[in-house]
Amino acid sequence: MATPDPLSALTQQVRALERSLQTHTGTLRTLIERSERTTYSQLEALINLYRELDGHFALPPLRNWAISPDAARQILALVRARRPQHVVECGAGASTILLGHLALTGQVGRVTSFEHDPLWHEVSRQRIRDAGLDEHVDLVFAPLIEHDLARGTGLWYDIDSVQLSDIDMVIVDGPPADTGPEARRLAPDLLLPHCLPGCGFVVDDYIRPAEQAMVRDWIEQFPMQLVHRSESVEKWLAVVDYLPEATDLSPDATGLSEVPA
Ligand SMILES: C[S@@+](CC[C@H](N)C(=O)[O-])C[C@H]1O[C@@H](n2cnc3c(N)ncnc32)[C@H](O)[C@@H]1O
Repeated sequence: MATPDPLSALTQQVRALERSLQTHTGTLRTLIERSERTTYSQLEALINLYRELDGHFALPPLRNWAISPDAARQILALVRARRPQHVVECGAGASTILLGHLALTGQVGRVTSFEHDPLWHEVSRQRIRDAGLDEHVDLVFAPLIEHDLARGTGLWYDIDSVQLSDIDMVIVDGPPADTGPEARRLAPDLLLPHCLPGCGFVVDDYIRPAEQAMVRDWIEQFPMQLVHRSESVEKWLAVVDYLPEATDLSPDATGLSEVPA
């Protein structure tokens, strides 16, 4: 039997390593290019957002936990198309400051924002105060509690003591996913009794399968229709309208088609 040639074995190992390195380098290049494209388009969206807001005010940092600039632009377009009188927001943060400014400038009637986390509630309270938006935003500390509903139980905000009425837009961006796999599912169960026909539920993070399943569930369980789905924004966004049969409302124009990707 021939003695294995140590040099040739070593050469083979080096070639295998080179191939593996090439593959990984290619993957890394693709990821970096994708990330650069996303960063650049978010930067463009942020510049446009401030221009569209005629901005004499600063927003807190966007992206990551907060809504992304492109989603903020879509919310702005939707608000300008529909002029909601009472926006309820699930999950406070940068979006609360944006909505508060829209209320201050008369583009939204009033804003109620639910926050379950005591520390984040305090951060948000300070930000609202510093921005001079106290009069326009009702920030509610609403811990998550188990709700026992006709179609099952689940965790969601404790809003029992909150006076809610005439809601015509809901921003669904909380509770965070780490509080449970169906963290946001109960929004219509608990809010629809206080919503006006035509109320639009704006679903951030629609890129996640859990959010897509949640919207399918809403449409099955309630008189709700998916009227807009944007896959061009970073975390995707959907608008689901509450359209009870007793009304003759048809799915409203969202005004979002004019928003470039
Ligand atoms: C998706 S975030 C809501 C973001 C908010 N709508 C905004 O645009 O900034 C959902 C929840 O995550 C928590 N959260 C928000 N920002 C956070 C941060 N920077 N670090 C940790 N938790 C955060 C808060 O409890 C918040 O209600």
